[in-house]
Amino acid sequence: MQPGELLEVATQAARAAAPLLLERFGSERAIATKSSDTDLVSEADMLAEAAIRAVLAQRVPDDAIVGEEGKDVPGTSGRRWIVDPIDGTVDYVYGHPQWCISVACEGLAGVVFDPLRDELFTAHSEGPATLNERELHGPPPRELAHALIATGFGYERSVREAQVAGVAALIPQVRDIRRAGSAALDLCWLAAGRVDAYYEHGVKIWDTAAGQLICERAGLDVVRLDASGPLPSGLIAARAELIGQLRAIIG
Ligand code: IPD
Ligand code: CA
Repeated sequence: MQPGELLEVATQAARAAAPLLLERFGSERAIATKSSDTDLVSEADMLAEAAIRAVLAQRVPDDAIVGEEGKDVPGTSGRRWIVDPIDGTVDYVYGHPQWCISVACEGLAGVVFDPLRDELFTAHSEGPATLNERELHGPPPRELAHALIATGFGYERSVREAQVAGVAALIPQVRDIRRAGSAALDLCWLAAGRVDAYYEHGVKIWDTAAGQLICERAGLDVVRLDASGPLPSGLIAARAELIGQLRAIIG
């Protein structure tokens, strides 16, 4: 399958989860916690992931699947799908309108769908990043002092303490910080020029697989952040000129 066809499969899979998520949004309750008391999972997460996996099982039965909520599926094709049925689960459970569905065929195609705004972010490895078919090229050049920076925090106390120290160092030197609650949307909003950079330690592959490809195809750099002390590895995404300056501050 060509990257363009894989993108069409990813779009079908992401859209399959949207109706049930929209129907439950505003009345959903968490049913369990995961890595810590603050890390929620809802029934909607489970149902949405099942809807996405059903499309993948039908369209690309030989491919491997990794999902945030379900078991890994081995494959034979050499391709791997990475699924986050709700990125921004805390927002979703609170009725806060910043969450999305993220589906990627690793390195080849990625879709992030925000059904509340009907915004579909896409990219494949041979084409542009798009938002509802409009090409995305990231934010215009801005110096660090005028940059709006998106970030996020993990669910573990020791990690958060270190993350807050990074934000404390950064915030006097930039325009402002945004913590919206969905890493996948943070990356897509960067590709759309709604922020100037995004970084976060401790994100998982399902949080970022689709958004990373969308940023790269929008012409942005996405670079690994090494683990350091209590901080797990992570990533930083921005125009190339900002990356070094940001890394120097956040470590
Ligand atoms: C979380 C969101 C959040 C980020 C966390 C992620 P989830 O994913 O992307 O913005 O700060 O690191 O775990 O738990 O809502 O799927
Ligand atoms: Ca996630």
